[in-house]
Amino acid sequence: MCGIVGYVGDDSAKEVILTGLQALEYRGYDSAGIALSKNGKLLIRKESGELKNLVKRTQAKDFEAHIGIGHTRWATHGSPTRENAHPHVSQDGRIAIVHNGIIENYQELRQWLTKEHNIEFKSVTDSEAIAHLVSIYYKGDLLEAVMTATEKLSGAYAIGVIACDNPDEIVAARMDAPLITGIGENGNYLASDSPALLKYTRDIYVIENGEYVVITKDNIRIMDKDGTRIRRQSTHVDLDAAAAEKGGHPHFMIKEIYEQPEKVKEALKIRLDKHNNVKLEGIHFTKAQLEGFDRVYIVACGTAYHAGLIGKYAIEKYAKIPVEVDVASEFRYRDPFVDDKTLVICISQSGETSDTLEALREAKKRGGRILSLVNVVGSSVARESDDVLYTWAGLEIAVASTKAYTTQLICLYLVALYMGKVKGSIDTEHYRTVIDELLLIPEKLETVIRSERRIRELAEDVYKKEQIFFIGRGVDVATSLEGSLKLKEISYINSFAIAAGELKHGTIALIRRGTLFLALATQDKVYEKMISNIEEIKARKAFVVTISKDSRKSIEKVADRTLYIPDCIDDLTPILAVVPLQLFSYHIAKLRGKEIDKPRNLAKSVTVE
Ligand code: F6R
Repeated sequence: MCGIVGYVGDDSAKEVILTGLQALEYRGYDSAGIALSKNGKLLIRKESGELKNLVKRTQAKDFEAHIGIGHTRWATHGSPTRENAHPHVSQDGRIAIVHNGIIENYQELRQWLTKEHNIEFKSVTDSEAIAHLVSIYYKGDLLEAVMTATEKLSGAYAIGVIACDNPDEIVAARMDAPLITGIGENGNYLASDSPALLKYTRDIYVIENGEYVVITKDNIRIMDKDGTRIRRQSTHVDLDAAAAEKGGHPHFMIKEIYEQPEKVKEALKIRLDKHNNVKLEGIHFTKAQLEGFDRVYIVACGTAYHAGLIGKYAIEKYAKIPVEVDVASEFRYRDPFVDDKTLVICISQSGETSDTLEALREAKKRGGRILSLVNVVGSSVARESDDVLYTWAGLEIAVASTKAYTTQLICLYLVALYMGKVKGSIDTEHYRTVIDELLLIPEKLETVIRSERRIRELAEDVYKKEQIFFIGRGVDVATSLEGSLKLKEISYINSFAIAAGELKHGTIALIRRGTLFLALATQDKVYEKMISNIEEIKARKAFVVTISKDSRKSIEKVADRTLYIPDCIDDLTPILAVVPLQLFSYHIAKLRGKEIDKPRNLAKSVTVE
C-alpha cells in the first residue's frame, strides 16, 4: 500500500525520502514521487513503475532541499501513471500533498472545486482534491488550511503537506491510515511506517486519528482537532535494522521461511512459565468471564484468516466454546451476533488492514470483547483492542506471509490452551501433551526446512503446470487453503483448495490426465478416508503429491510423489505442514522467474477496503 515519507532538517531531504521509500518498498507500490520546497518554489519529480525510475529522475544536483515529502503509490483511483502519482500539486503551484487512504467524497469535491473554483484536475485520483482544498484555504497558516480542508473530507487519510512559501514546516493529519513522526538529531521526520525511518531514528510519536502535526527542524507539535496541543511520550522502536536486509538470502520470503523455527520458539518461550504453563502477558480472563462467552468470532483476512480456521479447531477442542471464523470484509456487513457475551479475536500481521480494523470497530460497537493477535507493535488493531497478544514474528517484508502465519498459529494454540485451562474444559494430561508437543515444534520445523532439496526437485518437475489443486481433511483443509493462496500470489498459477470429501460433489469434473494435486494427509483420524480420496483422483489419472507424517510411509503405495513432516499430534500438524507448501510455492515462483517478494497487484498492508 501507499507509503509516505517526509523530512525537514539539515540533511538532504531527497536522500532521506528516497531511503525511506526504499525501506517501504515491501508494502507494494506502482509509482512514486517527491516534492521539495526550495527558494519559494516546489520541485516535483514523479515516475511510474519501480522506485529506481524515480531515483534516476532525481539525480540532478539542483534537485536538493532541506524539506520535502515523498510517496509510493498503490493505485486505487486511476492507473499507475506519472500523472496519478503523488505528490499532487495545487493549481496555483503553492501546495504539494501526499496521501495514503481513500477519500470517499472525492467526486463531490471534484465537482465543487471545478465549478466554484475553476480547478482543472490533472489526475484522476481521489487525492488531488486535497491539494486544491488546502490551497483554497491557505492564507499563510498551513496548519489552519489543512485543518479546514480535512473538515471537508470523508474517508481515510494520512496526509503530508508542504507549501512553497513555507520552507520550515511539514503539516500532517491522520484519520484511519497509519502515520508516525520520527525524532531526529538533524531534523524531524514523517512516515507511514517505522521501517522507513530505521536508518535515521528509532524514537517516534504515533499519530492518532483526528490529530494534526506540525513538523519543523527542531520541533514536533501534535494537536487535536481544536488545535489544542497534545503532550505524548515518544515510543522507542525496537526493530533490528538487519531485519530489513536479506542476510545473504536471494529473497526476503526464503529468509522469513528459514526464520520460522526461531520465531516460533520465541513466541512460545515467552508465554510459558517455569512449570510450562501458559501465561499470556497482560491478558487475564477469569473462569466466570470465559464461561460468560457464549461464542467466539475470529475475524481476519487472507493468510491471517487461514490461521483463524485452525484457531477454531483448537478453541472448540480445548476451551469448548463455539467458534465462527469470518473474513473481515464480510463480517462487518452481515449483522453478526455480537454482544457482551462474545469474544472477538482479530488476527492481523500488519495491524493496519482496513477490513479487519473496521470489523473490530463494528464488533466493539456491539459490545464484544476484542482480543487481537498482531505482529506490528503499536499498530491500529493493537491500539483499539481490549487485549493484545503480539506474535513477535519480527519485521515481515515479503508480501507473501510465512513467519507471521506460523507465529499466529502458535498464539492461537496458546490462547486455546489458556482458555481451556482456566475454564477447566481440558484435562491436565491433554494440556500437558499439547504443550510438550509444542515445545518440540521448533526442532521439527528445522527438519522440514532441511528437506528443502526434495521440495525444490518436485518444483522443478511440475513448475510448468497451469493449474494445481490442494486437498485435505480437518485442519488440513485450512493448510490447503493457505498453500493454495501462497502459490497463486507469487507464482500466478491458478490454484484451488477444497476439502477432500467435497471433491466428488462437483470439482472432480475438472480432473484430467496429469492434473496436479497436493494432497495433505497429516490427520491420523481421517487418514484412511484421505487415502480413499487419493485413490479416487488417481483413478482419474491425476498426478498426486502427498504430504504426510514420517511414519506413514504406506502412502507411497498410492502417491506419485511424497513429502514428509516429522510425526506429531494431529492438532499441531498445521504448523509443520504449511512449511513444505511455502517452500514449494517459493521454488515454483523462482523457476517461473516471478517477482517473489513483491508480486504484481499486491501490497503488504492493505489499508483500503
Ligand atoms: C498472503 C497475505 C495476505 C494477508 C492479508 C491480511 O500471503 O499476506 O493474505 O494475510 O492481507 O493482512 P494482515 O495480516 O496484515 O491483516
